[in-house]
Amino acid sequence: MTEFQSNQETANTQQNSDENKLVQPPKVCKPPAPAGIRLLGPVDIAPLEAILNQLTENVWRMEDEHKPNNFDCFHHTRHIIFRFCSFKDIWSFSSNPAWKIWGRLLLPIMHQASAAYGFTEPVYPKAMFASLTAGHRIDTHIDGGPAAFYVHKIHVPVRTEIAAKIIVNKVAHHLRKGYAYEVNNKIPHGAYNGGCKDRVHFIFEVFDGAACTRGK
Ligand SMILES: [Fe+2]
Repeated sequence: MTEFQSNQETANTQQNSDENKLVQPPKVCKPPAPAGIRLLGPVDIAPLEAILNQLTENVWRMEDEHKPNNFDCFHHTRHIIFRFCSFKDIWSFSSNPAWKIWGRLLLPIMHQASAAYGFTEPVYPKAMFASLTAGHRIDTHIDGGPAAFYVHKIHVPVRTEIAAKIIVNKVAHHLRKGYAYEVNNKIPHGAYNGGCKDRVHFIFEVFDGAACTRGK
């Protein structure tokens, strides 16, 4: 049994200890750009590949069964959630025990991938692996909830093939392994994996905590 699996047996989520609740979201909504996809830059994905190689079929199955984002549009996508947030309050996020193990490896990647924004206080309310089964798609959708207007959705491909595409506003894009991209989740988007292997992206969200007004 891996360290990951043993910690999942006590997988009660731990609430974020930040008691400062959001009373005003970031003063400026995320800009309308990118129209579809924005290349943020190269990322060292070696730690992500190392984590991925330790995830057994059993871990994927167990984690996917308990995911909070069990939406119909994802039907053939499996997720391993490290961190997830309320749909209304971007400060109300919780971390799974897996974050305690892997967070120290994931955080530098998240900092590197989101550096282009120049945030003073980057906050990461969601982080996960998403595996889209070969030959299947994610239905076109728009991410819901007020938080989606403020957070930036970042994809870092870890295992992919040229035939794996993200479709944003009916335009297909292949996201290259080893690079970080922002995907505009407030316009219609979906995905298709025409490759032979399951496509795995590390996905997280970020916003600038310094741009928020907080209070008790
Ligand atoms: Fe989405």
